[in-house]
Amino acid sequence: MFIQKAWRTAAFGVYGFTQFTKSGFVEHAKKFREEDMQIRLDGKNCLVTGANSGIGFATAEGLASRGATVYMLCRNKERGETALSQIRSTTGNMNVHLEICDLSSISEVKSFATKFSSTDKPLHVLVNNAGLLEHKRVTTPEGLELNFAVNVAATYALTELVMPLLEKAAPDARVITVSSGGMYTEPLNKDLQFSGNNFDGTQQYARNKRVQVALTERWSEKCSNKGVGFYSMHPGWADTPGVSKSLPGLSEKISGNLRSNDEGADTVIWLALQPKEKLTSGSFYFDRAEAPKHLKFAGTAASHGQTGSIVDSLHSICSI
Ligand SMILES: NC(=O)c1ccc[n+]([C@@H]2O[C@H](COP(=O)([O-])OP(=O)(O)OC[C@H]3O[C@@H](n4cnc5c(N)ncnc54)[C@H](OP(=O)(O)O)[C@@H]3O)[C@@H](O)[C@H]2O)c1
Repeated sequence: MFIQKAWRTAAFGVYGFTQFTKSGFVEHAKKFREEDMQIRLDGKNCLVTGANSGIGFATAEGLASRGATVYMLCRNKERGETALSQIRSTTGNMNVHLEICDLSSISEVKSFATKFSSTDKPLHVLVNNAGLLEHKRVTTPEGLELNFAVNVAATYALTELVMPLLEKAAPDARVITVSSGGMYTEPLNKDLQFSGNNFDGTQQYARNKRVQVALTERWSEKCSNKGVGFYSMHPGWADTPGVSKSLPGLSEKISGNLRSNDEGADTVIWLALQPKEKLTSGSFYFDRAEAPKHLKFAGTAASHGQTGSIVDSLHSICSI
C-alpha cells in the first residue's frame, strides 16, 4: 500500500513535470489543428462556473468570442461584474450575463438552478470549472467539508438539476468538468468529507478530482441515449490566482514554466466546440486528446459498485 502510494506520487511527478507544464503544452500544440478552434457558437447557451478568474474566465471569454450566449456563475458580485465588463469589452459580445451563486451552499445551488431553469432555455454547454484547494478542514454552514462542497457536491447537484435544460439542447449538449491531473494520485474514497484524522487538503482535493472523473463516467452511462455528452479534463498546470494562493510552492518550483490561463482553458474550449462525433463521452481529456484515467500500476481503478455507492452518497448528501 505504502509502496504503491509512493509509486503513484513519483509517477505523477514525472508525468506532471514533463507534460503538464507550459513546455508540455507547446510540445502538444504542435499537433493541434487551427480549424478546430474556428467553430462558432452563435445561438448556443453556455454556463461557466467560477468564471471571474483563471481558467473559468479564459473559458468564458473564449466562448463569448465565438458568439455564444455565456452565463458566468460567480460567487462574488463585484468580482463577477468586473469580469463581465472585461469580457463584454474584449469580445464585443453583449450576450454575456452574470449569475451569482455560492457553490459551497447546496441550498444556493438549488435556488440558482430553479431560477435558471424557470426561463426554460436549452443549455448547450455546462462547464463545471469552479474549484478550490483549502488546506485546513473548514466546514460550511450546511456542515459540509469545504473542498468537497464546492468541488464535488456542487458539481453533482448543479449538473443533476440542470439536466432537463441540457436535454432540451440535445443532441448537441455537453457537460465539461474541469478536474485535475492531481486525481492520478488518489483512488475513489468513500470518506467523501475526509472525516478521519490527519486531514490533508491536497489529498482531499485529489480525491475530489477523482470523484469528478468517476461522476463523468457514470453520467455518460446513465444519459447515453439522451444526447448529452460528458467529459472531464485536466487543464495542465496554469498560472492562475488559485494556484498562486493554494500551491505557491508549485509556482516557485516551475517558475516560468506554468501555462497561461488561455493555455489552461484551451482543452475546455476545444471540448465545447468539437462535433460530438469526434469526442468520447465519459472520457478524460488533456491537451485536446483522450488521456488515461489511471497511471500504470497505480491501483486507483474502482469497481462499478464503488462508483455507484459514491453516487448514492452524493444523492443523499445533496438531497436530490
Ligand atoms: N490552475 C491549474 O494549474 C489547475 C490545475 C488542475 C486543475 N485546475 C482546476 O481548474 C479549475 C479552475 O481553477 P483556477 O486554477 O482557474 O483557480 P481560480 O483562479 O482560483 O478560479 C477558481 C474559480 O472558482 C470560483 N469559486 C471558488 N469557490 C467558489 C464558490 N464557493 N462558489 C462559486 N465559485 C467559487 C472562484 O471564485 P473567487 O474568485 O470568488 O474565489 C474562481 O472564480 C478548478 O476546478 C481547479 O481545480 C486548475
